[in-house]
Amino acid sequence: MNQENLIQFLSSSPTAWHAVESVRKTLLAQGFKELKESQKWQIEPSGKYFVKRNDSSLIAFEIPAKGFAPFMAAAAHTDSPAFRIKPHPEMKGSGCVRINTEGYGGMLCAPWFDRPLSCAGRIMVKTAEGFESRLFKSEQDLFIIPSLAIHMNRGANENATYNKQKDLMPLFAMESKEGISLKEVIAKEAGVEADDILDSDLLLYVREEPRVWGVNQEFISGGHLDDLYCAWGLMNGFVASKPSGAIKVLALFDNEEVGSLTKQGAYSTFFHDTLKRISLSFGKDEEDFLMALAESFLVSADNAHAIHPNYPEKADPSNQPKMNGGIVIKYNGNQKYTSDAFSASLMRRICEKAEVPVQEFVNRADMAGGSTLGNLSNVQVSLNAVDIGLAQLAMHSCYETAGLKDGEYLVKAMKCYYESAIRRNDNRCELI
Ligand code: CO
Repeated sequence: MNQENLIQFLSSSPTAWHAVESVRKTLLAQGFKELKESQKWQIEPSGKYFVKRNDSSLIAFEIPAKGFAPFMAAAAHTDSPAFRIKPHPEMKGSGCVRINTEGYGGMLCAPWFDRPLSCAGRIMVKTAEGFESRLFKSEQDLFIIPSLAIHMNRGANENATYNKQKDLMPLFAMESKEGISLKEVIAKEAGVEADDILDSDLLLYVREEPRVWGVNQEFISGGHLDDLYCAWGLMNGFVASKPSGAIKVLALFDNEEVGSLTKQGAYSTFFHDTLKRISLSFGKDEEDFLMALAESFLVSADNAHAIHPNYPEKADPSNQPKMNGGIVIKYNGNQKYTSDAFSASLMRRICEKAEVPVQEFVNRADMAGGSTLGNLSNVQVSLNAVDIGLAQLAMHSCYETAGLKDGEYLVKAMKCYYESAIRRNDNRCELI
């Protein structure tokens, strides 16, 4: 397992835009060609391509030697809960300047306190003709969200509640006569004039690097493990896989944490449009496309809750996935996950072939649990699909924990998956 590669990937991907750029670099190095949604696609048999939308979602695909075929797809998400910086963020008071933010997604608030933070995302910079989008990641320790001392909040350890507009405003600077502007700090670091920054999408990120730890080096902790750990595993299985009889598809979507309803989210037309254009570029008609979908498959990969040793009662009584225990298949009675007996069986056969252990996740019947992108993307393109994940702790903390061995399992399983194709014959399903 390439541990340095994983840490490098996580560390260089503090936002969805950065995650897409990290994947783009890997794909280019592997001989993939970038397509634009605004241009005609010339797709060749054995060709390897990718396309981005909003620079924060990406779909890559590899065509088999025989040309058009059903799709073997896998998807993960590029975004994570964080705090988004508002316009005019500087707030003066009590001799200090704080930065005004709002929540993006459902984060655990407590872990954000008392650690060095910075900001990253994209900035729009004026050009002679208009403007351009640039990735931005500050390498400075710019902010901390300080806790209130225990002496002033004796109940802090009993019943903590957090108001995002009051308790979680990051400290940025001391007030000064000259004043201070975050935009100027960003402009200086980006090497542009502050007046040339028209707008920005900036989120806070924790400065602490991801790390492998534990006496036996079994754990990995860091920001964004949900869902960049899966994105990394899918990508590595995808690029390592040998050509198969199917069109291999790697889909990475932004905005899963806020419901996927954006133009680049899993609920958008992006996935459908991309598959459809592959079909069109091979001169296929609507029926050919629908026939291909009937023998296609989607693995929706998003992390699962490992049983927590401090709270074992929160896990289902008979399905308790463990870190380093292998691929987790996720089930939900109300169909928030796509897994069913058919799709889970396919995944089980793949994992068996790849010699990767499988475990199961189901919520307790008295807990609602989360949802993921699989069943949303299935509204746009309906495929047989399974929801899987890697078992992790502290989901939606800004510093999450997972098993190091599981990343290796995911790469192995996905390599095997991408080297397979499906043949359906009435009630039979063959992996070829
Ligand atoms: Co997730």
